[in-house]
Amino acid sequence: MSVQTQEKAEVLDGFIALDRKEEEKHAVQVSMLAFHVAKELELDAKTCKELATAGILHDIGKMKLLEEYGKKDSLIIEELRYMRMHSTLGYEALLGKGYSDCILKTILHHHENYDGSGYPAHLRGEKIPLGARILRICDVYSALRADRLYRKALDMDAAMGVMIDEVKYFDMKIFLAFQRVVHKMEG
Ligand SMILES: [Fe+2]
Repeated sequence: MSVQTQEKAEVLDGFIALDRKEEEKHAVQVSMLAFHVAKELELDAKTCKELATAGILHDIGKMKLLEEYGKKDSLIIEELRYMRMHSTLGYEALLGKGYSDCILKTILHHHENYDGSGYPAHLRGEKIPLGARILRICDVYSALRADRLYRKALDMDAAMGVMIDEVKYFDMKIFLAFQRVVHKMEG
């Protein structure tokens, strides 16, 4: 399954079976992975902590969407369009609440792809904030490692395999650091 097919399926998952506990578990996993990847990349301690915070908060916009649209029956294509608003909604919800620029930009851009095919701004390569490039990788991995309505959780090797097939979406230097972290944690 491609990362994009995965995300379309996630939309179904999000609206039909969004489970607050699962969302929380995912947020903690992404936070922990992002922190360790940042450390592996030898980023300063402040940035490592900021990415841990961004990991916890990155999908907060989904909660806002569910409050607004979750009870409505809507077409899948509409749901996809709505779901794509979640990174911007999360950013806007946290703006002016004392979060650093690094945290806010990481959340706003955590669905940008390295090849420019992501959202909301279709940023490409190093134009994507570093934190968002890190979070993107941790987010995809955590989603692949979890049970979904349409498939069981993938094991470490299978999840890595999917990501290697789609490595054009990721910053290769970060992806290599991420692989080292996962092998240390799970290998
Ligand atoms: Fe997200």
